Amino acid sequence: MSNLCVVGAQWGDEGKGKVIHFLSREAEYICRYQGGNNAGHTVVIGEDKFVLHLVPSGIIYPGKKCIIGNGVVINPQALLDEIKYLREKGVDVTGRLFISDMAHLIFPYHSMLDEAKERRKGKIGTTKRGIGPAYMDKVDRVGIRVCDLMDKDIFAHKLKDTLTMRNALLEKVYQRPGLKYKDLYLKYCDYAEQLRPYVTNTSIMVNEVMKKNKKVLLEGAQGVLLDVDFGTYPYVTSSNPSAGGACVGLGIGPNKIDKILGIIKAYVTRVGDGPFPTRLTSSLEEKIREKGAEYGATTKRPRRVGWFDAVMVKHSVRVSGIDSLAVMKLDVLDDLDKIKICTGYKYKNKIINEYPSQTVILEECKPCYEEWEGWKTSTVKIKKYQDLPSKAKKYLSRIKQLAGVPLSLISVGADKDATILLNKNFFK
Ligand code: GDP
Ligand code: IMO
Ligand code: MG
Repeated sequence: MSNLCVVGAQWGDEGKGKVIHFLSREAEYICRYQGGNNAGHTVVIGEDKFVLHLVPSGIIYPGKKCIIGNGVVINPQALLDEIKYLREKGVDVTGRLFISDMAHLIFPYHSMLDEAKERRKGKIGTTKRGIGPAYMDKVDRVGIRVCDLMDKDIFAHKLKDTLTMRNALLEKVYQRPGLKYKDLYLKYCDYAEQLRPYVTNTSIMVNEVMKKNKKVLLEGAQGVLLDVDFGTYPYVTSSNPSAGGACVGLGIGPNKIDKILGIIKAYVTRVGDGPFPTRLTSSLEEKIREKGAEYGATTKRPRRVGWFDAVMVKHSVRVSGIDSLAVMKLDVLDDLDKIKICTGYKYKNKIINEYPSQTVILEECKPCYEEWEGWKTSTVKIKKYQDLPSKAKKYLSRIKQLAGVPLSLISVGADKDATILLNKNFFK
C-alpha cells in the first residue's frame, strides 16, 4: 500500500494546496475527506493561480482522479461554480471527479443560520458558509445527503421535514424570514441533474483503488487546531481535519493509511476568532502579513500572524500521528533580524509544555520564547537543503527537534518549483 494523508498542523492555510498539488504527480487518486467550501487551497504554477474550495487540489494535474468524500459537506452551487471556474481555466473534470453519495448537502438555510448566529454574542468568526449548521443537521440526523437528492420523492419528503424545523429556528430564534419550500425544491432538483454524473459510492471506489496498490493522497482541509475535538474549542470548525477524520470521511480503515504528512508554516497565522498566544502585536505582524500575502483565500479577511509555536505543533503531531513535516513559507522570514520560537507557555507562574484543553487557560497563557538570529538572505531560489543559509538550517533543525519528527519538505515560494525536498519517498 502507498497512501499518504496530508494534514494541516496549525490553524489552516498552512499551504496544503501547494503540497497536495506537488505530490499529486505521483498519486493516482486525490481525495478530500472533510470540511466544505470554508476551505481555500491555493496552487501556483508560474503565472497561473488556482484557488480551490471543494475540489481536491490534485485536479489541476492532468489525468488525476479526484474524490469528494462522504465527510465533506457540499454546497452544490459552490461546487458547480468551481467546476465552471476550472473549465474556464482549461481544467476539465469530466470522468475525473467523483462525489460521495453519502456526503451531506449545504442548503441556504445553513448559511443563514451561520450568519445569524455570528451576529449574536460569542462569535466564532466563521466563514459563514453554513458549514457548522450543515454538520449540526448531519449529527442531528435530519441532514439531507447527495443520495437523497438523487431521488425526487425522498428528497421532497426530507426537505419538507428539515426545512420546517430550520425555518422555525430562523424565524423564532433569530427573527429572520424562513425559506419557501417550492423554490428550494426546484433549485436543488436542477442541481441534482447537473451533479448526477459525478455521484457514486466513493468508499467502494477508493477501497478498490487501494487494493490495486495505486498511490492515493488524502487531502485534509483546515488544520488540527481547528478540529472540533482537538482544536481550540469552541473556536474551531465543525469537522475533524486531524488524520483520523480521513478514515470516517472516506470510508477506509485506519490500516489503509501508511504515512501522515503534517503541513506547517515557518510561523503561525489564524483567520477567524479565538486565542492565539504567539500573536504579534507590533508592526511586525503587518510586515509579515504583507510579505506572506496573509489574507484569507476564501473570505479575504486579514490573517493574524505570530511566531512559530512548538507546543501547538507537538500537539498536532501527537493527535494526528504525523510522521514528518513540510515547512512552508520559510522565504517570508528572509528579512527578519530576529525570529522567535515558542517552546512552552507560562500560566499562573507555571510552565506548561502541553497544549491546554481548556480555552480560557490558553487565553491566559504567555509564550516562553527562544530567540534565533535571522539569516537576512533570500531563500527563494534555493533548491537544495544544503544551500540554505546556515542560520535558516539552524532554525529548521530546532523546529524539527521540538516537533519530534523529521522535516520532509521546505517551501520557499508559492510556486510549485520553489520546493526543497528532504525526502523523495513520501508515500512509503
Ligand atoms: P491551504 O489552505 O493550506 O491550502 O493554504 P492557502 O492556500 O489558504 O494559503 C497559503 C498561501 O501561501 C497561498 O497564497 C499560497 O500560494 C502561499 N504559499 C504556499 N507556500 C508558500 C511559500 O513557501 N512561500 C510563499 N511566499 N507563499 C507560499
Ligand atoms: P483551509 O482548508 C483557515 C476557520 C474560520 C473560523 C473557524 C470556523 O483553507 O486551511 P467555519 O466556517 O469552518 O465554521 O469557521 O474555522 N476556518 C479556516 N481557517 N483555513 C481554513 O481552511 C478554514 N476553514 C475554516 O475562519 O475561525
Ligand atoms: Mg486556505
